[in-house]
Amino acid sequence: MLFHELNRGKCKTYLLACPETRKAALIDPIKDKVDRYLAVLAYYGCQLDLVIDTHTHADHRTGTWDLRDLLGARVVMHRRAPAPHIDVHVDDGQQLPVGNLRITVLYTPGHTPDSISLCTEDRVFTGDTLLIRGTGRADFAGGDPGAQYDSITHKLFALPDETLVFPAHDYRGHTHSTIGEEKRLNPRLAGRAREAYVELMNNLGLPLPDKIQEALQANQSAIEDDSVPFPSLPQLSQVRQVTAAELQARIGSGAPPLLLDVREPDEFQGELGHIPRSVLVPLQELSGRTAELAPYKEQDVIVICRAGVRSATAAAILTGLGFEHVSNLKGGMLDWNDAGLPVER
Ligand SMILES: [Fe+2]
Repeated sequence: MLFHELNRGKCKTYLLACPETRKAALIDPIKDKVDRYLAVLAYYGCQLDLVIDTHTHADHRTGTWDLRDLLGARVVMHRRAPAPHIDVHVDDGQQLPVGNLRITVLYTPGHTPDSISLCTEDRVFTGDTLLIRGTGRADFAGGDPGAQYDSITHKLFALPDETLVFPAHDYRGHTHSTIGEEKRLNPRLAGRAREAYVELMNNLGLPLPDKIQEALQANQSAIEDDSVPFPSLPQLSQVRQVTAAELQARIGSGAPPLLLDVREPDEFQGELGHIPRSVLVPLQELSGRTAELAPYKEQDVIVICRAGVRSATAAAILTGLGFEHVSNLKGGMLDWNDAGLPVER
């Protein structure tokens, strides 16, 4: 296998390629370094087949969209990833061929709900789930320390001890570790039970810089220009949430709410379908089309998307524009479909 880490920094991007076919995959490419990736791919005579984000990143803008546009590579993320324009949604146990290489997906939520790890040959790419002598924070962007503990101890630590570990970040100059070393030496995990881990992760007291929120929202929505005035974290945290079951009950009531779907048109008609009688206004068009929605300013509005993330952004924007009764469908069309509720396509 042809293998390189390409960034030489704290944030890691990995190139994997099949030596026979020269088909390649990039794991966690960052937007600022796309030119470098193009040069490296050309130097090795590789054809980029897959670009895989291990999760929705909060610390940098993803390079996946640029690489797809430039090279026609397919973008791969977990099915819980909130963004539109993902070519291949994957789930636990799925295999991704790259020439004669096989990459196996492990669903390892916790850092985010869409975190995956990727196994191939003697190594595993752990994203921000398991770091070298650390773990990724689990205190925002849908993080869940208990789920993270389970992902690490049940899935990653079930791999052979000699498996090489390549994380998405390292802040101390390490290049890799092994599963066995992390079991023995990771200070967050060694000898720590689940409850103690959750307690530790909930009390790290790390700051939430505003810039991180900008990267996160751009990556969650695949909107890379300034067309959407992204709300701040406090504005987002005030958005009311309704579950799929609660929404179904309200649709059946005497005064059904306006169902505002903010996905892209291909998603509205796609695999997950849409809730009957919902109105489509893609997030990118929302600010320019509020006049159409003005009659609903004092009425109930439920905002809907794929995973309930873009719609939370839209709900916060509408609230800021004076819409008084806006709520977000928690878990979006993924939860709606998982609950077996009716859809149209
Ligand atoms: Fe991350």
